Amino acid sequence: MEKAEGRNQTVIVEFILLGFGNGPELQPLLFLVFLVTYIATVAGNGLIIALVVSDRHLHTPMYYLLGNFSFLEIIYTSTLLPRLLASLLTRDTPIPVKACIVQLCFFGCLSTVENVLLAVMSYDRYLAICHPLRYPALMNGRVCGQLVVGSWIISPGFTIIGNSFLWEMPFCGSKEIDHFFCDYAPIIKLSCEDTRTVELLISVVAAIGSLVPLLLTLAFYSCTIAAILRIPSTTGRQKAFSTCSSHLIVLTVFYVCVISVYVVPTANTPKALQKPFSVFYIVLTPLINPVIYCLRNKEVQQSLRKGIRKVVAFRNQLS
Ligand SMILES: *[C@@H]1O[C@H](CO)[C@@H](O)[C@H](O)[C@H]1NC(C)=O
Repeated sequence: MEKAEGRNQTVIVEFILLGFGNGPELQPLLFLVFLVTYIATVAGNGLIIALVVSDRHLHTPMYYLLGNFSFLEIIYTSTLLPRLLASLLTRDTPIPVKACIVQLCFFGCLSTVENVLLAVMSYDRYLAICHPLRYPALMNGRVCGQLVVGSWIISPGFTIIGNSFLWEMPFCGSKEIDHFFCDYAPIIKLSCEDTRTVELLISVVAAIGSLVPLLLTLAFYSCTIAAILRIPSTTGRQKAFSTCSSHLIVLTVFYVCVISVYVVPTANTPKALQKPFSVFYIVLTPLINPVIYCLRNKEVQQSLRKGIRKVVAFRNQLS
């Protein structure tokens, strides 16, 4: 094995994710909870995609963006949860360092796409409510497609470049990662080199990848909400608000989770709280999207009812 310079320690080639620690009695319960949430997330977001693709009434930029967001959420949970489920079954399985970094890059890329798509969705609502007359010209199928493709290319490209140095990073000392997936902070802690520059770089990349979309989102929504408040009639206000309330809820849940996982924790935050917060962040946000839209959005509900009626009619025809 190679020797790392400086500390004269063996370079590690695999990590061990400690997951939720050593409570064997809890593992089956956790496995069940995560399995159910994973299935619900894939099914719920899959349902949204099916509705957006099949119902002509939902062929508008707002729902195209929603469909793309649901698609992203499926990939996002699929990069984290199956691996987590497997490690709950077979405890202490080592994960090669390179595989861990691949997971990390996927996680970073998809989180950035998520941020950017949420900003694009609020831009769409901003145009629809603040510039209703110019909306068809400013936001149509083509523009929407360009924005979607743009977010899928630029955000991962940016994150991959920002993460490139991780591939070269030597790790030594402890193999154990006290977390349930490969996240930045626990991994960088295991590096044998001085990590100050790396940490700075990660913070800059994370700040650009999440802070810029967040600020744009806030700016769009401030204008949108100001415009809604200026509408004279109550019904008009309610109608305008109902077109963006679902997105606003998803957005709020998402950023509350991000901030409680990545911004609030300091050295003094109890470690026991950090993992549950991360669970919320990676499990709750993808699940909340279909739940909110199916519970609150009238058009999605209508489309769902129509879909169910079609399925029932089809079954009756068969029998
Ligand atoms: C994603 O967006 C594109 C471009 O607007 C659209 O054509 C496509 O149907 C969307 N995908 C889904 C699953 O909604």
